[in-house]
Amino acid sequence: MLGQLVFMASLAAAQQVYVETNGSTPRPNCPSCTGGHPQYTFHPFEYSLTSTYRYATPRPSPTTTTTFAAPREQLTSKLSSLSYTTWGKWDPGSNSTATDTADPYGRAAWTSLWEMANPPNFTEVTKSAVFSTTVEPTPVPSESLVLPPRDYFGPDDCYNWPEDFDWGVASSASQIEGAVAEEGKSPSLMDILIQDDRPKDYVTNEHYYNYKQDINRVAAMGTKSFSFSIAWTRILPFALPGTPVNQEAIDHYNDVINYIIEKGMRPEVTLLHFDTPLQFYGFNVTAALSGAEIGYNNGGYQNESFPGAFVNYAKIVMTHYADRVPVWYTYNEPLLYSDNGKSIDHVIKSHAEVYHFYKEELKGTGKIALKFNNNFGVPRDPKSEADVYAADHFNTLQLGPFCNPIYLGIDYPESYKMTIDDYVPLSKEDLEYIGGTADFLGIDPYTATVITPPVEGSQESIMECASNYSSPYRPYCVNQTTTNIFGWNIGYRSESYVYITPTYLRLYLNYLYNTWKAPVALTEFGFPVFGEADKQDLSDELFDTPRSIYYLSFLSETLKAIWEDGVEVVGAYAWSFADNWEFGDYDQHFGIQTVNRTTQERAFKKSFFDFVDFFKARGA
Ligand SMILES: *[C@@H]1O[C@H](CO)[C@@H](O)[C@H](O)[C@H]1NC(C)=O
Ligand SMILES: *[C@@H]1O[C@H](CO)[C@@H](O)[C@H](O)[C@H]1NC(C)=O
Ligand SMILES: *[C@@H]1O[C@H](CO)[C@@H](O)[C@H](O)[C@H]1NC(C)=O
Ligand SMILES: *[C@@H]1O[C@H](CO)[C@@H](O)[C@H](O)[C@H]1NC(C)=O
Ligand SMILES: *[C@@H]1O[C@H](CO)[C@@H](O)[C@H](O)[C@H]1NC(C)=O
Ligand SMILES: *[C@@H]1O[C@H](CO)[C@@H](O)[C@H](O)[C@H]1NC(C)=O
Ligand SMILES: *[C@@H]1O[C@H](CO)[C@@H](O)[C@H](O)[C@H]1NC(C)=O
Ligand SMILES: *[C@@H]1O[C@H](CO)[C@@H](O)[C@H](O)[C@H]1NC(C)=O
Repeated sequence: MLGQLVFMASLAAAQQVYVETNGSTPRPNCPSCTGGHPQYTFHPFEYSLTSTYRYATPRPSPTTTTTFAAPREQLTSKLSSLSYTTWGKWDPGSNSTATDTADPYGRAAWTSLWEMANPPNFTEVTKSAVFSTTVEPTPVPSESLVLPPRDYFGPDDCYNWPEDFDWGVASSASQIEGAVAEEGKSPSLMDILIQDDRPKDYVTNEHYYNYKQDINRVAAMGTKSFSFSIAWTRILPFALPGTPVNQEAIDHYNDVINYIIEKGMRPEVTLLHFDTPLQFYGFNVTAALSGAEIGYNNGGYQNESFPGAFVNYAKIVMTHYADRVPVWYTYNEPLLYSDNGKSIDHVIKSHAEVYHFYKEELKGTGKIALKFNNNFGVPRDPKSEADVYAADHFNTLQLGPFCNPIYLGIDYPESYKMTIDDYVPLSKEDLEYIGGTADFLGIDPYTATVITPPVEGSQESIMECASNYSSPYRPYCVNQTTTNIFGWNIGYRSESYVYITPTYLRLYLNYLYNTWKAPVALTEFGFPVFGEADKQDLSDELFDTPRSIYYLSFLSETLKAIWEDGVEVVGAYAWSFADNWEFGDYDQHFGIQTVNRTTQERAFKKSFFDFVDFFKARGA
């Protein structure tokens, strides 16, 4: 009962953004203010302003090893015999053709995968690559680790992070690795996603060869965890169960994981971050790019052979690395790449199967979750019943199809069932199998979005849209805007859809925790400063105050959610450790480091220092 009262009181506090009031902003921290007539005096003047130079503290080298499962030899023996091979590099300019045409998984078969994918302007784009083998890291010069001048305004709270709070940086394979047709990697959706004249992803940050330098730099800043994704098309170029495992890929990610640990950080792994193998579209590029009924892109999850193949891939990765990996994410933002109801059915069931395998067969002691997205919907007018209904429709429709079964073991929400005709009903047995198969809820809470029904004030217009496949408002059946009821932007705007909306983040965390009753982690959050790519001078780009404000305000509100609202938040990861390929765009700089696209040199931005300092100053 007490808990209930505390909860209600805190929710009211978190919702104070809606209170209407007049007069100037109160100053509750100044019960008595200094004012009236100051005493003016002359002093001898001196240039005596002092400066403090503080250096970032690197992660200490590990002194103990923590394991999360039995050694890999014991785990891989649980899978029926795996075969390993290598394929090398695809070079369309070379005249030498493979002759092993009788081998279904030979070099000729592998080459034909790339020929079928036919990535646009491949040769032209890959010419700009700087590296073709693993780069040995150079020590990070200590003068590049001096903290920048602080922003004048900043958080003045007294909250510390809870013990064991996990924090760090996040990334994904296709956005940073490059080397897309090297060391046996086969084509994924990401390699063909952009067909027009926007930048391709074949080079990106060349992290595949430069990973040691990248890891070294992130550790030098004192970061606790390094979250990244593994490319399915590297591990299994032929994607399907029973096909050979790529020895070079297994060795590569093994080194990545070991190097992260050697540098004192925690390696956290996402299994699928949008880079679906092209096999699941039958190499039909038109189909792969045809768009999706529910999400933004067709992730191929609806293919009947997809879930079994995903589980097979997950088992191979987990058996090789589970001894050292503390946290696993099965899917990144699955809604965005779900085509239809079948896609969602395949995602939740294959996720559950991976969870059961990890916990029951591997006896893994690490954690498993998924990373979700939805840009929290807030009612445009919180006093309007229709707007509140619309916001709830928007939020449950995007998160509920996954979170209801996975976290609560209950059926899909009505918002989903009324909208997606071909949803796959869940049986009692399904719900028992799927329920409770995640240790926490990962959310990528970039920003908030303002919601009204398609027709203002009309709840019915949501229902009409949900049953009308021609409605332009499908599939969410709401009107999303970025301004509040008085026409103000809901926050400072970035280069993209991201606005600085910290108070809504607090509400969002309350919503997630109290709806799905699971600990929450901010698995990605970040901010592309407006016009950053246009800055002429590198030093101007590095002084990224709006990004610092974004991170410090979001983290301050996270602490309030924890200590004032009782919301269990267990982690926060910046997106991303460096500027990268944003799906056909290099101008949206989400990074806390810059990347020189000619030399591949990285430089720390101010926000990286501020982000790390905010954790360390508060005991994390
Ligand atoms: C605040 O001022 C506005 C504009 O004068 C007025 O319409 C409104 O009623 C006032 N609200 C309160 C809470 O006093
Ligand atoms: C491939 O063969 C053509 C025709 O013989 C030749 O012009 C070209 O230089 C060769 N390319 C390479 C990369 O060997
Ligand atoms: C792709 O190649 C074509 C033909 O060479 C060229 O016209 C076009 O500009 C190239 N596009 C990009 C993005 O490189
Ligand atoms: C589904 O995936 C299988 C296996 O990769 C493939 O053979 C088939 O063509 C795919 N189906 C479609 C419709 O793309
Ligand atoms: C490829 O997919 C498109 C769109 O789904 C379809 O119209 C076309 O028939 C497919 N092509 C082949 C060869 O199957
Ligand atoms: C469905 O939506 C379309 C597009 O807005 C509209 O023209 C049509 O009248 C709607 N159908 C029904 C049955 O409401
Ligand atoms: C969405 O709502 C806003 C605010 O009510 C309104 O100005 C705008 O015209 C609406 N847009 C659409 C496409 O209905
Ligand atoms: C990238 O590095 C090169 C070589 O140092 C330099 O000339 C160029 O100005 C840099 N580009 C940017 C955008 O800083």
